[in-house]
Amino acid sequence: MKQTIIIFGLLLVLLMGSAAAQDTAPTLRDLAQRLDFHVGVAVSSWMFDEDERFEATLAREFNLLVTENDAKWCYTQPEEGRFDFTGFDRLMDFAEANAMTVHAHVLIWHQCFPDWLAEKELSRDEALQILRNHIFTVVGRYKGRILYWDVVNEAFDEFGNLRDTHWLRWIGADYIDYAFQFAHEADPDALLFYNDFGAEAINLKSNAIYRLVSGMVQKGIPIHGVGLQTHLGVGDVGVGRPIDPAKLAENMTRLGELGLEVQITEMDVRHAGLPEAEVLQQQAGVFYQVLQTCLETPVCTAFTVWGLADHYSWLKMPDYGDNPDVAPLLFDADFQPKPAYTAVQDALARKAGAEPLLTDDAIVAMLPPRPAILQTELPEPAKSDPAQLAPDPVAGVAYYAPFPVAITLDGDTSDWADIPRSKVENVITMPDDMPSEMQFAVAADADNLYFLAEVRDSALVYGLYDVVAEWYMEDSVEFYINATGNLAPSAYESGIVQLGIAAANIANSGEPLIGGGLSGDVPIQVVVTPTEDGYTVEAAVPLQSDVWTIEPAQGGVLGFQSHLNGASVDSRDTKLIWSKADTEDQSYRDPSLFGRLIFWEAAVG
Ligand code: G3I
Repeated sequence: MKQTIIIFGLLLVLLMGSAAAQDTAPTLRDLAQRLDFHVGVAVSSWMFDEDERFEATLAREFNLLVTENDAKWCYTQPEEGRFDFTGFDRLMDFAEANAMTVHAHVLIWHQCFPDWLAEKELSRDEALQILRNHIFTVVGRYKGRILYWDVVNEAFDEFGNLRDTHWLRWIGADYIDYAFQFAHEADPDALLFYNDFGAEAINLKSNAIYRLVSGMVQKGIPIHGVGLQTHLGVGDVGVGRPIDPAKLAENMTRLGELGLEVQITEMDVRHAGLPEAEVLQQQAGVFYQVLQTCLETPVCTAFTVWGLADHYSWLKMPDYGDNPDVAPLLFDADFQPKPAYTAVQDALARKAGAEPLLTDDAIVAMLPPRPAILQTELPEPAKSDPAQLAPDPVAGVAYYAPFPVAITLDGDTSDWADIPRSKVENVITMPDDMPSEMQFAVAADADNLYFLAEVRDSALVYGLYDVVAEWYMEDSVEFYINATGNLAPSAYESGIVQLGIAAANIANSGEPLIGGGLSGDVPIQVVVTPTEDGYTVEAAVPLQSDVWTIEPAQGGVLGFQSHLNGASVDSRDTKLIWSKADTEDQSYRDPSLFGRLIFWEAAVG
């Protein structure tokens, strides 16, 4: 009996110990204070009377309060000349009672744009007068009490063009300058931000924002920072992914070189389906990488999440989200910390020199796999023959595809003359006495991506299997394309296809005989022609399809792979693979093993 009691006692101590460790672990706010950094959260006034856990968590974990909605025009001036600060005041009262800094969001935005204003037809001067009056009234009311103001939000579309808003039409592009000028006159001590989404890395939109704020700085317009909203999804962040931390840091740094602050202003991480453990771990990895990048970039001064707990998220609202089970934030609906919270806590703790919350292994487990091949690891492009329309391929790693090139699918390969070939060299299996070979080429014009396979195979075997289901069991070539922008996906998704092109198309005049993962997602044209020592395959897929928009541009990258299947008697006994990363014929299930296709403007020379 005595022994049992001792064991129970030990367990109790261990459990209490770990709980105590968690209880004594510093809060996000503690760590932010140590770093002279802001960790913020967006909240709305209606949330305060819902659940006492809300206020307790808000004051305990955050030192920056962001006004999610109450400071927007449709709330502060719902009718012309009638101002309503009820909600805004509620937020200010709580922030000041709990020594929290305030980031007021947002003065000028095309949404939450009241009907009384939208119905007007205004001259430039009339519009400027209304703009000035609104900003002076709202900013002036809280003069000296608000550190950050989002002055203008989402002025650009995803292509980097100014949105066609009422302000642009009434005033012109300098409405932005005027908004910042008025806000500065109304509260000279406030730090004024431009805020936007989809501009975290280097792209058309972030380049347009960079040009805008550079110009404002040069003109002496009072602007102090740029907010990167960072509304992301699981899988979006990582080396070779849509948001590569290095590119996020590059964007932050170039803004900082203008003398501006940069902030992560609205982060949440959505996902498909239920928030299962693996999803929550991947979600934690996204938060971790973004915060770590911010903490490593001195001009990044705040990290804000767009909602305190999952059930408050805008993404739960049918108008804004398509996954009712989405859980995009740091706390769950019971205000319990999720793995994402611990990831944020750990990143802050490591930066502050405090005890880490996660082991190094736990951090590695959160992060996405690196792509098998990084473009940055490639040798300088080179041409062994100046007549080539693109550089030599890097065997099994990268293929440079020239564009625009006129290709006709007709079995005549003369139009492929100056386009480099690459051999499919990794032998998974091949009978010694029945060797096969394949080399391929890829090119593009304004409409299509073209593939050429030249196969040496002394015994053509086809027509034995159901091509759609088991095409790979007989003579066939495979081309894989990943046009998702995420070069290290852990699974097939829309925008990734495996095109299994059967030699049986030689004798086929109907619909192309195609198999492979998601191959039904894209239309394909195929011409397969027997030759004296084997066969050639010419194929074309459209650059614009339901699952992708491929825009050939110099240096543009797709995930790419190619295989050869051969049968010498009655089933597959030859398997050759191009990408060096795929040593075990796993590309059919793991697209992160693809190599790279890099577009090369033929005229570049
Ligand atoms: O509170 C009313 C409720 O009384 C009413 O019954 C209900 C009927 O629809 O509306 C409720 O107000 C909603 C409000 O959120 C609740 O907080 C508004 O309809 C709804 O439009 C509003 O959506 C907000 C959205 O901006 C538009 O203003 C979201 O909460 C807010 O999270 C979202 O935040 C934006 C940022 O401002 C800019 N960046 C993108 C971000 C997400 O869209």
